[in-house]
Amino acid sequence: MHGEAATLLAWYDVNARTMPWRSPPRSGIRPDPYRIWLSEVMLQQTTVAAVRAYFTRFTARWPTVSDLAAAQDADVMAEWAGLGYYARARNLLKCARAVRARGGFPTDYATLLTLPGIGPYTAAAVASIAFDQPATVVDGNVERVMSRLFNVQTPLPQAKPELTTLAASLTPQTRPGDYAQAVMDLGATICTPRNPACGICPLRQFCAAWDVGTQTTLPRKSPK
Ligand code: ADE
Repeated sequence: MHGEAATLLAWYDVNARTMPWRSPPRSGIRPDPYRIWLSEVMLQQTTVAAVRAYFTRFTARWPTVSDLAAAQDADVMAEWAGLGYYARARNLLKCARAVRARGGFPTDYATLLTLPGIGPYTAAAVASIAFDQPATVVDGNVERVMSRLFNVQTPLPQAKPELTTLAASLTPQTRPGDYAQAVMDLGATICTPRNPACGICPLRQFCAAWDVGTQTTLPRKSPK
């Protein structure tokens, strides 16, 4: 395992944020793929703080993917109201029904990708967090952390393939789900877009941007 991954996992063991869909690191509790999938779909357009209440209401009303699959479309749309991007709610139901029809969530990235509404981000999140597969999750947090760790000067969106390759190169074979969540937590709490808290960053010793002082200029963005 790379030093970056080992260091980040040790940081996550102590600093993981508590979320209603998470099991604490090293608890031995298997995350529920339904709850991981639902939370990751909700988190694609909304902050963790805003998602909490929606997630709690959804899972109280529909505790399993089969319960959600059996729901009335209008009831799901009503619970989704306020989250926005209503195509996502329709896809959510389609996906729940496809999962019920096949008897459960697939456990690998490639098969997850075939489900309605599941793209590379959600497939990697479910494969790694719920099923411990070494898939690499890439969201805005991960792009920012990688651009700084490796001092990538290529602007977004051109830099996406390069940042994805770098993120994959650091993903460990053991605890890939904790690792994915650790990078996202680091990006949300320490390696923030503005005023990153480099003074308390566990990865500072590995950070090429820190070495040359470019962290607040990264990731660069192409002019629109
Ligand atoms: N943002 C989206 N998914 C997340 C997760 N699993 N942990 C932390 N932040 C996230």
